[in-house]
Amino acid sequence: MAETLSFNCGDCQCRIKTSFQRLKVIINGEDRPITTSSDLINPQASPDADPPVLQVWGGYPLRGHVKISGAKNSALAIIAAALLCPQDCRIRNVPSLVDVTRMGQILLSLGVKLEQHGDVLDINANVIGQSKAPYELVSQLRASFFVIGPLLARLGAARIPLPGGCTIGARPVELHVRGLQAMGADVEIEHGIVHAYVTGSNRKLKGAKIYLDYPSVGATETLMMAATLAEGETTIENAAQEPEVIDLANFCQAMGAKIRGAGTNTIAIVGVRSLHSVDYTINPDRIEAGTFLVAGAITHSELSLSPVVPDHLTAVIAKLRDIGAQVIAEAPNRLRIIPEHSLKATDIETLPYPGFPTDMQAQFMALLTLSQGDSLITETVFENRLRHVAELNRMGADIRVKGKNAIVRGVSILSGAPVVATDLRASAALVLAGLAAKGKTTIHGLHHLDRGYDQLEMKLLSLGAKLQRLPNSAADADSRSTSNPVSIHQRD
Ligand code: EPU
Repeated sequence: MAETLSFNCGDCQCRIKTSFQRLKVIINGEDRPITTSSDLINPQASPDADPPVLQVWGGYPLRGHVKISGAKNSALAIIAAALLCPQDCRIRNVPSLVDVTRMGQILLSLGVKLEQHGDVLDINANVIGQSKAPYELVSQLRASFFVIGPLLARLGAARIPLPGGCTIGARPVELHVRGLQAMGADVEIEHGIVHAYVTGSNRKLKGAKIYLDYPSVGATETLMMAATLAEGETTIENAAQEPEVIDLANFCQAMGAKIRGAGTNTIAIVGVRSLHSVDYTINPDRIEAGTFLVAGAITHSELSLSPVVPDHLTAVIAKLRDIGAQVIAEAPNRLRIIPEHSLKATDIETLPYPGFPTDMQAQFMALLTLSQGDSLITETVFENRLRHVAELNRMGADIRVKGKNAIVRGVSILSGAPVVATDLRASAALVLAGLAAKGKTTIHGLHHLDRGYDQLEMKLLSLGAKLQRLPNSAADADSRSTSNPVSIHQRD
């Protein structure tokens, strides 16, 4: 029987309801049905009216090793791609994140079977009960729009609500839609819903030559998935080259898809009749790894990280070296950061891969606030991804925004303050700033953080950071109390 659960929306905190069917969690080898939303949603995410805040006490050096989780953006695309396969898909190294849970909910809403055992997700999409994804879910997670590609390829029809804009920009989907049209789909957009369908007796998409005006990650992924089951060959020119595109291509190839060129700007896909069972392990998250490298630099701490793919972090490592940190590959999948005492300014421009990732811009901005000299940060990928500037300035940073540029004048100290996370990577930047600031930083808006960082607080605590998550009301009471908060959080 379906059970209705309610939880907070990721972007605006409205409460929504959804139903789960046929999803089980397996804990200590024992199957049990989902009974509460906390079974599914990362326990860090609170559905409470009293949302949690994160208090961070700055100035404590970090030390040790961090285990990097599976890549969020690979996981989201790969879970969508499991819709292509009528047999069992086992996906390993799945990070425990609210966004991943939401993508699972989308598949459940389509009638697909999912089972989760720790970081292993089993999906069987032999039966896809329907081709329409619910607005309540799609509006919370843009990546859920990507299911349009596999649904169309499998069923010849898909009805997906337009995901709408989000906190970092308008994020249209016309590149996805135009590519599907080039492959023979009819697309009508009515009442906010994209209805795509393929006519003809076999309802199959046809291979096509597609040029993307911009190397969109999502459009590349949607079209690559759609093309795996199309008739004939599809080429995607000016394709995104992000490692997550390669991860998705590898997953599809492991199911029998014929894909060449993933990771270059031209991807060729020869459609096959059907895909088969797979057991696949997701790559480590380069953005999580980059965030921990910045944590080392901003707290002047030596840290090691694994597993990582150092080649995925070339631009990030180059900028860390410019700023004054050594980053050493200790093993093929392990990096160590050894920061210098003083950090220097540098300029950063975000670009599609292999350029500097937009998903690391906010974290580097936090680092550059404490670097000597003036840095120019230019955000070219998203039009509204500088909202963390105001929050960093509340902590004593000196940053001015002009259009898509932020001029960061290094200061000698940041001071802890109450701040609000405006998006996922902005929330990571505020945690990093808090680790380096004098005194206590209280971060609101943690629903953003929980979308994309697996166990961030536990990982930081194990490195010696002083932080705690607590309900906002308790944090208010704590601020009024005269006790020394730091003593509460010391580990020994
Ligand atoms: N764009 C269009 N039309 C389209 C598609 C994209 O104009 O049809 C524009 C977007 O509005 C944006 C730019 O192209 O300005 C880049 O968008 P892209 O499609 O490449 O991004 P995405 O697929 O929506 C993924 C990641 C983002 C990451 C970007 C860029 C996932 C689930 N999300 O988004 O990750 O920032 O690529 O690398 O893969 C994050 O993890 O914090 C995050 C936002």
